[in-house]
Amino acid sequence: MAKEKLIIFDTTMRDGEQSPGASMTRDEKLRIARQLERMRVDVIEAGFPASSDGDFEAVKAVASAIKDSTVCGLARANEKDVRRCGEAVRGARAPRVHTFIATSPIHMEKKLRMEPSQVIEQAVRAVKWAREYTDNVEFSPEDAGRSDLDFLCRILERVIKAGATTINVPDTVGYTLPDHFGPLIRKLRERIPNSERAVWSVHCHNDLGLAVANSLAAVLNGARQVECTINGLGERAGNASLEEIVMAVRTRQDVFPCDTGIDATQIVPASKLVSGITGYPVQPNKAIVGANAFAHESGIHQDGVLKHRETYEIMSAESVGWSTNRLTLGKLSGRNAFKNRLQELGIELGSEEALNAAFKRFKDLADKKREIFDEDLQALITEENLEHVENERYHLVSLTAHSETGEQPYARIVVSEAGQEKPAQAQGSGPVDASFKAIESIVRSGAELLLYSVNNITSGTDAQGEVTVRLAKGGRIVNGQGADTDIVVASAKAYINALNKLHSKLERINPQV
Ligand code: KIV
Ligand code: ZN
Repeated sequence: MAKEKLIIFDTTMRDGEQSPGASMTRDEKLRIARQLERMRVDVIEAGFPASSDGDFEAVKAVASAIKDSTVCGLARANEKDVRRCGEAVRGARAPRVHTFIATSPIHMEKKLRMEPSQVIEQAVRAVKWAREYTDNVEFSPEDAGRSDLDFLCRILERVIKAGATTINVPDTVGYTLPDHFGPLIRKLRERIPNSERAVWSVHCHNDLGLAVANSLAAVLNGARQVECTINGLGERAGNASLEEIVMAVRTRQDVFPCDTGIDATQIVPASKLVSGITGYPVQPNKAIVGANAFAHESGIHQDGVLKHRETYEIMSAESVGWSTNRLTLGKLSGRNAFKNRLQELGIELGSEEALNAAFKRFKDLADKKREIFDEDLQALITEENLEHVENERYHLVSLTAHSETGEQPYARIVVSEAGQEKPAQAQGSGPVDASFKAIESIVRSGAELLLYSVNNITSGTDAQGEVTVRLAKGGRIVNGQGADTDIVVASAKAYINALNKLHSKLERINPQV
């Protein structure tokens, strides 16, 4: 018998973007959206259009580029947000408006300062406004995990009557437990008289590490859409991770009455792309997409896997895309081969000029690194985009770093600030520290360094290092990235990229604050 469909709703570009410093540009969102489409994600939540003009444009661009997935935008339950969202997604082949309002006593009283009856009326109005743009409307009672069951039944019955076609139940603060959250979905479906007119969805946060477990409990109790993110990115401890949901349901088909339509071989490339763009590295022991997820260290395990793979492996590395990390290009590859591979990866550079610039970068990299993998190409394009951010104030012109045992490391640097080249030099505890000090002596940002991390993009000592630098200043947090075969250069690029982001005025509001 054919299994029911479990709809995968990806919110990497909306809830994921609410992680500190993870905000994405229009072009970055387009690249992620194309990868999600290639992975056959059913619904892509591309952003929160009312948060900024930039995000409105980004959602609009995703809506017109994506053909096979539904494109969704988020809107608070007010007329301005809903209309802005409706405008942003209306060009999509399959548009959806997702509107929400908080329903827990604490949120209604302290945050909204509204009576429960007012909240119901506002939710109904929001759904009706959304229906003026599309007949695909999703409604979420925010903080449902801490809301009163009877109140949830009242409001959800009314919004379904008003035209909501998907009801998404969020555990906004990651408070629930599987034995509570699963039955909550069943009770809502059983008690609400018109419940069968909507698809039931869940959206779980990971504050207690239970987002995936809660989502799966909900699926076993009738939820047929799960909202999730690549690498579990998202507000605070993140959202349920897409790769874990998809692979749990696929691996345990003996338990689940449904399956997703996801092409799982695209999971690892998607994970690497999102990690590179947002600057959020993946922990090595992360399920499915961590570097160690399929590594068998102990002798007993290795012996078992060699004799019969399934002794210790419940799924294969290839099935989630580890083997798609294939060698693509080398030093002798021409411009056409380069262009074709970018097209296959869903990367469009927009102009011949941009293609030429990227090809030059590729040739420079191929001189330093013999084998160029897809991940290198993705990093190279991320770099290329980073350096063309509008209003970019600072550029790295040159860097010399010196370290020798027994000597104090130092760095000499030239940074161009608003077109004017400025040299500086500084000593530090290591060459990276010295480089940052030299940059600061020019820029004097006074920003606080919150995070510095280095990851290799592919394996081998000639691999590119990908550096993330997180800076905070005046209540804003930004992530800067840089990649290079020399990690000191990659670090300086990442620091300068973060400074440019701090300098740019692009600011977004968080829908839930
Ligand atoms: O966590 C949450 O409640 C949300 C809603 C906007 C769906 O992100
Ligand atoms: Zn959320």
